[in-house]
Amino acid sequence: MINKEKPIGLFDSGVGGTTIWKEIVKLMPYENTLFLADNKNAPYGGKTKEEIIVLCERNTEFLLENKVKIIVVACNTGTTNAISHLRSKYKDISFIGIEPAIKPAGLQSVTKKVGVLATKGTLSSELFMKTSNDLIKKEGIQIVEKIGEGLVNLIEKGQIESPEIFELLKKYLLPMAEENIDYLVLGCTHYPYLLPQIQKIIPENIKVIDSGYAVAKQTKNVLSQSNLLNDSQRKPHHIWFSNGNLSVLQQFAPNIDNLKLQQI
Ligand code: DGL
Repeated sequence: MINKEKPIGLFDSGVGGTTIWKEIVKLMPYENTLFLADNKNAPYGGKTKEEIIVLCERNTEFLLENKVKIIVVACNTGTTNAISHLRSKYKDISFIGIEPAIKPAGLQSVTKKVGVLATKGTLSSELFMKTSNDLIKKEGIQIVEKIGEGLVNLIEKGQIESPEIFELLKKYLLPMAEENIDYLVLGCTHYPYLLPQIQKIIPENIKVIDSGYAVAKQTKNVLSQSNLLNDSQRKPHHIWFSNGNLSVLQQFAPNIDNLKLQQI
């Protein structure tokens, strides 16, 4: 296979990475893709940095065995804890990561208060703390952090519209709204699936943002700079792999004939 036709590889702890996959496919409709959902080990959010690194290495090796041309760590927890390790260990491939979009939110905020909902692993990571401290010191932005405890577990069970998830979201978001935030950053790739519920809970003036489009754009830029963009204009092939519950992943899959779901 010529290099340009090799697939873009993506991984996440679970179904959340499909939100990034969707942005990538929208922006680069001729790219082949492979997505790995490590559902068996989800959630990553409460694990230690060392545990997250081991899982991210395993996911990377699976994608490398399947001959991908670039790896998108479609997981904020994985990126903030493991991407520098992955970049120094696997030097022959580029990694694109995702981090909570607190910087763009902070720079646009009028109230100078930004809320971020993310996993414990992301919020306690050195990378996140550095970005947030810079923003606090240099721009005078206040960051209101909340751990989305329990949300990923419910999403991984396919219970997106459950009353439990609605109650948890109310518990996390209402105190943030009371603090006068005008931006809410979704700092976990699972959370965009909760947007309809989130919008029922928070006031309309709070803008909700995530990093999905920015990650797709960055992936495209890096592929283009390395002359790896697929310019064949042929209908691409997509595979979603899961080592856990394939039927849950199926719930998030678009109904297209060039996407195959595979149990591993
Ligand atoms: N989707 C992930 C993230 O962006 C992982 C969540 C988890 O497994 O706890 O952080």
